[in-house]
Amino acid sequence: MPLLPGQSPEMLDRLRNMDLPASFADTALGNLENNTSQVTLNGQPYNVIRPGELYPGVWGWDAAFHAIGLAYGSGERGLEELEISALGQTEDGRIPQILFYDAELANRTYYPGPNMWECESANGLPISGLSQPPVYGFALEKILEIDPAAEQNEDKVRELFNVAYNYQKWWYEERDPEGTGLVVSIHPWETGRDNPIEWDPIFKRIRATDEFQDMPFDPAVRKDIRIDEHGNNNAKHRPSDEAYKMFTHLLHKVKDNGYSIKDADGEYRKDFPFAVQDVTINSMLQASNEALIRLSERYGTPEQQRELRRWGSQTRESFNHLWNDEAGAFQSRDTTTGKLTETSNGSFLALATSVPSEYQAARMAHLLDDWKHKHGVKYHICSSPPDHADFNTERYWRGPIWTIVNYVAAEGLLMQGARFENPAILDKGLEVTLDSLELVQMDGGAFHEYHNPVTGKGCGAKSFGFTSVAFLDLTSKLTHYKTALEAAGEKPGGTTVG
Ligand code: DGY
Repeated sequence: MPLLPGQSPEMLDRLRNMDLPASFADTALGNLENNTSQVTLNGQPYNVIRPGELYPGVWGWDAAFHAIGLAYGSGERGLEELEISALGQTEDGRIPQILFYDAELANRTYYPGPNMWECESANGLPISGLSQPPVYGFALEKILEIDPAAEQNEDKVRELFNVAYNYQKWWYEERDPEGTGLVVSIHPWETGRDNPIEWDPIFKRIRATDEFQDMPFDPAVRKDIRIDEHGNNNAKHRPSDEAYKMFTHLLHKVKDNGYSIKDADGEYRKDFPFAVQDVTINSMLQASNEALIRLSERYGTPEQQRELRRWGSQTRESFNHLWNDEAGAFQSRDTTTGKLTETSNGSFLALATSVPSEYQAARMAHLLDDWKHKHGVKYHICSSPPDHADFNTERYWRGPIWTIVNYVAAEGLLMQGARFENPAILDKGLEVTLDSLELVQMDGGAFHEYHNPVTGKGCGAKSFGFTSVAFLDLTSKLTHYKTALEAAGEKPGGTTVG
């Protein structure tokens, strides 16, 4: 993707002057390897990667992103990570939120562990009963782009293509109650974004019910806020106890219905307390549709090609139901009330698809500017709106920056900038890229899970997989655009590059 005439000279200067410590890329890849354990699953040896110190399992969207990061070392290793994630796939195609590779470890160190979920993959491994944003198909294409040599293993790629296809199919067959191509999520953990301000009105409504109020919950079950070996207690960075009571309540609701949203006759139930057309899930679903449509030319059957195209156009057309013109963003929709929710960093993932018009992409780029420059925020992209009264700079998804979300948003902005030949959108993509890299650089190689958007301070787990992957990919974008800048010559103001 080229630079464009008319880009801001300041942004090009910032790009030109950005230099990263050479050792950081090795640290990032090293984090993924250090978070790896050798385990035996169903009699076979596997290298499984946990996202970070708090999380003893293979998480659905984490694994797909890890696969992209690993491809910067070896595409083959990236494919292997997708293969491991596929071990958690259920009979009907769901890639789970969590595949527990060591049930004893998980029951001891994580809440809720496999004893609470009581759920199994098609081949009998313990999993959680939910899914996560479908990054799988998107990741498969990325691996092959990053390391085309991985395509030599054609059988393996075809096998993973089929896993990805069946996963997309699961969303359309099991989670599309309105038949519009906008799928529904039934638990905040499924959206990957547990506690953003976005869900507050829904939680408030559920909290008012007798069923919720009568549910006993002892916060001592939580294992994520224990004091770690360095004496740190990160309770201020994690969701509140009140949020955990909500997560547990919603877990019981879906578990009681066999982790399905259909009744015994296969009809969609309408009484799920949390039933949201989540913008993150629908964006990644569409990004994966588009990736798989391209891959299907080589790896798909004619029927798979037809189905992928059908899903892709349906979701694309319906996505406008998630557009809030007043806010200037795509937002999640609460299907209980029919209302759109707050904007979040998840909103910007829609940019990584062919959904937005130039007007919509430009409005979202403008909104990013607004978030960054009006509320004391120094870095892109806050996870909840910084002008909201309940914005919190360090608590999980209530404000902090998740560089992995920044990575997909940056990818989207750069893509939309090129697609519409719009230099302002491209500039915003570069700005998100540079901000994210600067955050990791300031963190001095700690690769924290998330970052305070005002001070840049790292929060949550260290040596985190998501952050390492975002760093690896955004560094490659940095190199690409620096090379483009050099190739265009050091022209005054950078205004004539192309
Ligand atoms: C956690 O345990 O914090 C995760 O966000 C659940 O997926």
